[in-house]
Amino acid sequence: MEGFFVLLCNHWQGLLLTASLFSFWHLPTTAQPTIESVPPIVAEGENVRLFIHNLPENFQGFVWFKGISVFRDHEVARYTLKERSSVMGPANTGRETANSDGSLVLRNVTKNDTGLYALRIECADMKSEEAHVQLLVNSSLSPCCNPLTSSQLMIQSMPLYVKEREDVFLQVYNLPEDLQAFTWYRAVYRVPYYEIVEWSKILNTVTWGDQYTGRELVYDNGSLLLQNVAEEDAGMYTLEILKSDFKIEKAYVQFHVNKYVAQPFVRITNGVVSSHRSVIFTCVSPDTAISFRWIFNNKPLRLSRRMTLSPTKCGLRIYPVRMENFGEYRCEVFNRVSSKISPPVLFR
Ligand SMILES: *[C@@H]1O[C@H](CO)[C@@H](O)[C@H](O)[C@H]1NC(C)=O
Ligand SMILES: *[C@@H]1O[C@H](CO)[C@@H](O)[C@H](O)[C@H]1NC(C)=O
Ligand SMILES: *[C@@H]1O[C@H](CO)[C@@H](O)[C@H](O)[C@H]1NC(C)=O
Ligand SMILES: *[C@@H]1O[C@H](CO)[C@@H](O)[C@H](O)[C@H]1NC(C)=O
Repeated sequence: MEGFFVLLCNHWQGLLLTASLFSFWHLPTTAQPTIESVPPIVAEGENVRLFIHNLPENFQGFVWFKGISVFRDHEVARYTLKERSSVMGPANTGRETANSDGSLVLRNVTKNDTGLYALRIECADMKSEEAHVQLLVNSSLSPCCNPLTSSQLMIQSMPLYVKEREDVFLQVYNLPEDLQAFTWYRAVYRVPYYEIVEWSKILNTVTWGDQYTGRELVYDNGSLLLQNVAEEDAGMYTLEILKSDFKIEKAYVQFHVNKYVAQPFVRITNGVVSSHRSVIFTCVSPDTAISFRWIFNNKPLRLSRRMTLSPTKCGLRIYPVRMENFGEYRCEVFNRVSSKISPPVLFR
């Protein structure tokens, strides 16, 4: 039963199995998990949900941390598929809960909740993946994120949701007068490997780093233009600045990339368990960062007790199968900018 959850729906391994059928599909690069804050800026006293995109289908659990590092002391909450419950960590204030889809909900946020959060996704193969998000809290006392009323170093992504192959402008505000140098990183980690570009006033140089792809343009006012973005470009970026007193300041920015989804198809896997018929429907799509919906006889599928959805909903299992389950199945994949429905498959 548990094995059912290790389905290959939208990953390239799954595609290899079906590549001969749908050879026009290119193998997508497996995009890294990213986190979306909903809403992007939360007012003090309201709730916010930190939602994961590109979840590996074989995930086993999640651990959320306050701050950049995955230190046990900073653990806010964890969720494991095995326990099926959210467990509080040492850094939990009683307002944070981890959900079965990995998302973290913070209720009644305070100014103190502002800052970076780290997520560790634990997978079935003992591997783990990490992602970060910045929580922006707007309070009446210290309004956040308005570059005109703030004097803080601040970056805005324009737009926040970028369509694939379009450009995104990371606009920097409130750069200090005595700026000596700045560096852009393609991560929250300020290590050479993640460097995109280094700009120096004293040396009057622009030095491109390991993460330069040829699609970036940098301006003297710190802003960075990323052209022709791909899904893999989504995530957190860091700007580090050096001032004349050798003080360092940093700021983070994030953007999301949505692409137009391709049409999925439904694969049927029949089985027999203890002399009862079982079936697994898999919604196969080359896209990542998508959501799934199931359609039965042209209506949204209503789940019965004999039906189980995989964690990302790309898999639907019925056991035991009854006559009433016979009919036409389709699945829909969607993201913020597009949606596509599979051709129907008849199940008898
Ligand atoms: C939200 O937090 C504030 C400050 O901690 C507290 O005064 C208030 O009662 C809380 N509101 C709710 C609905 O929990
Ligand atoms: C925020 O953090 C400060 C310092 O740790 C603490 O004194 C204050 O009570 C906290 N405020 C809230 C609303 O939790
Ligand atoms: C922050 O809050 C202030 C006051 O409540 C509001 O006027 C402003 O529009 C908010 N800013 C953002 C970016 O949400
Ligand atoms: C920085 O320079 C770019 C290019 O000239 C411009 O579009 C942008 O508005 C500037 N940003 C600020 C904050 O002045």
